[in-house]
Amino acid sequence: MEYYKLNSLYIEVTHACNQHCRHCYLDGGIHKKCAEMTTEQIKHIFAEFKAQGGRYVIFTGGEPLMRSDVFELLDCLEALGLRFTFASNSLGMNKERLEKLASYRCLEEYFTSILGSTAEKHKAICRKDSFDAAINAVSFFDKKGISTFVQSTLCNDYIDDAEDILKLFSGFKNCSVKITPIASFGCKSEEEKEENRNLIVPGERFEDFHKKLHELCEKYPFCVGDDNILCRKQIEEAVNEYKNNPLYSLCWHSVCVRPNGDMSFSYNMNNPFVFGKAYESLKIPMDDKFFGYIELLKKADEYILEKSSFNEVEYDTEIDNYINSVLK
Ligand SMILES: C[S@@+](CC[C@H](N)C(=O)[O-])C[C@H]1O[C@@H](n2cnc3c(N)ncnc32)[C@H](O)[C@@H]1O
Ligand code: SF4
Repeated sequence: MEYYKLNSLYIEVTHACNQHCRHCYLDGGIHKKCAEMTTEQIKHIFAEFKAQGGRYVIFTGGEPLMRSDVFELLDCLEALGLRFTFASNSLGMNKERLEKLASYRCLEEYFTSILGSTAEKHKAICRKDSFDAAINAVSFFDKKGISTFVQSTLCNDYIDDAEDILKLFSGFKNCSVKITPIASFGCKSEEEKEENRNLIVPGERFEDFHKKLHELCEKYPFCVGDDNILCRKQIEEAVNEYKNNPLYSLCWHSVCVRPNGDMSFSYNMNNPFVFGKAYESLKIPMDDKFFGYIELLKKADEYILEKSSFNEVEYDTEIDNYINSVLK
């Protein structure tokens, strides 16, 4: 049996969070209880990932700082020589933690989030004062020559803030900024989806948003042009690139490990295709189930291409929605 070779690993070590952002697709929160792998299970995953030739880990959550063993896990990555991105909302960062993170040779990038162009706007979405903490963290790493990546996820009322957000980061040398509209809520409760519905950017605004983003990328080269929304032409180009690859779009994907060890090829929570528990084995057999999933992805692409003729789409969410609808 052949097994799928993992080059990169996206691991959510927890879904607990010191914030409870109104837009969060994970429905985070300080009281969020869900099954989490033990320290030893995660270390075992890292060792197996390294042994099978893995190179790069995206260490994320929820908020990874909610785990008391967070630095023990990062020490393990460092000992294995696995390069990693560390993702945090920055609220729990202090001098000691920043210094500790910066001391890792293997820290490739620090990821953080900004949800509006001012502290007040940011707080209105995440309900905590993490705006200055995020900017301080970027500034700290920037001075040390360590790359930072800021994701700015914008709600409908803030969509025109994109340029002001880029201005906030224009003085840094090693910082990239991704700006993406809030288009869906993942596995939030129906009640919370309803409560926060006004945050969603409607599809009719995507085209205009893309035009502006394109202009901003010319003006601010550190602005990452890719957002989560794709037009038909972008999807066609992507499909043309991978359509003759036996792994189809999976050739572009990391395996995602949820806090309970479930492995999938989706960053969202709603994809029912789980390829085993990572702490038992990272080996994903390239069997009928695996290739059946690829066939489903091909059909999903056809469906999404059709849909994107009318409106631009949030591609990853559409894939999961399509798969759920055919499995029903
Ligand atoms: C899930 S968080 C994990 C890391 C950390 N807690 C943080 O907020 O930076 C990763 C990123 O997903 C973004 N995100 C959360 N919910 C989203 C949604 N409904 N649509 C788009 N992005 C979302 C967050 O704003 C954040 O930038
Ligand atoms: S977006 Fe990040 S900080 Fe906000 S609730 Fe979700 S996991 Fe926590």
